[in-house]
Amino acid sequence: MRRIVDHILGNQILRQVALPFLIRGNPRDPVPFIALARQGEPVCWLPGINAWLVTGHSDVKALFGDSRITTDPRAYERYEAPKVDGAARWLAEMPFRTTPSNQDSLGRRLVLSALKPRAIERNEHRIGEVVEEFAVALRQREGVVDLLGEFTAPVSTIAIGRVLGVPPKSKDEARFRVLARQTTRGIQPFLSRAKRRASEAATVEIAEYILNLVEARRREPGDDLISDLVSASQSASPARSEDIVRVIAALIAAGSGTTGVSGARALRSLLLHPSQLSLLRSDRSLLGNAVQELLRYDNGLLLLPRYVLEGFEFRGRTLKKGQLVLVSPLGANRDPRVFPDPDRLDIRRDTRQALTFGYGAHYCPGANVALTEIRLMVAAAIDFIPPNARLLEDQIRWSRSKGLMAQIKSLPARFDR
Ligand code: HEM
Repeated sequence: MRRIVDHILGNQILRQVALPFLIRGNPRDPVPFIALARQGEPVCWLPGINAWLVTGHSDVKALFGDSRITTDPRAYERYEAPKVDGAARWLAEMPFRTTPSNQDSLGRRLVLSALKPRAIERNEHRIGEVVEEFAVALRQREGVVDLLGEFTAPVSTIAIGRVLGVPPKSKDEARFRVLARQTTRGIQPFLSRAKRRASEAATVEIAEYILNLVEARRREPGDDLISDLVSASQSASPARSEDIVRVIAALIAAGSGTTGVSGARALRSLLLHPSQLSLLRSDRSLLGNAVQELLRYDNGLLLLPRYVLEGFEFRGRTLKKGQLVLVSPLGANRDPRVFPDPDRLDIRRDTRQALTFGYGAHYCPGANVALTEIRLMVAAAIDFIPPNARLLEDQIRWSRSKGLMAQIKSLPARFDR
């Protein structure tokens, strides 16, 4: 036990983020703890981890737009740089992080290129192909199907590769899938030495692979996100290939696990609410809003870290320079002052105030990709999941090891046809 406690205290991500949930929470359903915090103290001090927890909708939204705090962990009074290069460092030191002094970062330029109507159409087509490749086998399947391992997780990894420009169904793609999975695994604090080494080796290999793709697109532009990034980075202040590689690496780290987990959690919510599933099956026009509601209800993202740049008063509390502030989009999305009866899944609900993808300058640049991916996953799944499918809730494998996401490692369901 002592070793576990030491490990937690010695690990930056766990110490910062996961502790409240390890001690008091439950990865299946962290909502009660967050609701308790919101009702008790909207800006609540967590003594064990020396952090503020902010859970109310208006407060979370206000902090998304507040330039006195930053997402850059280097402003944290206890910042320790990740010791090795890898996914954890890519996320910690994203070169395009939006900060008060860096509002027009490469990331923002990426958003502009990702929002171009042509790119949205292109992504929809490519992601649709990937979804279909995995859905086809599941249409006939009987017995136990792992909807995460056999569907949402591989779709998520391959889709981000195709959006970037990895050639479809190639040897490269098969390798990319393995490398992306091993690389993003490096974010997790609990890894055996062998897995940690494998993750580090994968990081080096994937970075080299992306660098080659970037150089190839410089010579000959294609119709993909890497080409868009290369051209966007040439127009204003030219970026070095290495900087673009880090942007892409961060996109892979931020964009491959998230949709796999969110997609699985969306399917779990639907299977746990059969009347909502039937409603969606009978009226496909509800799909777009259903996806927004499923993500509001449960997307797995628990907390986002912020660091105080200059001390200020907030809701009667004094936030000091260098302190950690944890804002909870899940808390905001379940705030009864904004979403009446917030713990009810209602695919007809008005979801426009949801903070699933953040807000303002921090709005997720991958939101379009994520929404397209989850919409296409859900649309395919409601076709291949037989009407009498049963979620095997007791057999779901949960993991507490990732601080920011409430992790789910499998989503078994029984298909009888
Ligand atoms: C359902 C899936 C997803 C959810 C719920 C989600 C949510 C979010 C949220 C809330 C933020 C803001 C973080 C903060 O303010 O600290 C964010 C940032 C980010 N997301 Fe996503 N995201 C998802 C999928 C994706 C995908 C598919 C990509 C890539 C294609 C992506 C790339 C990013 C990046 C690079 C950032 C950092 C932006 C910055 O700091 O300027 N995300 N995401």
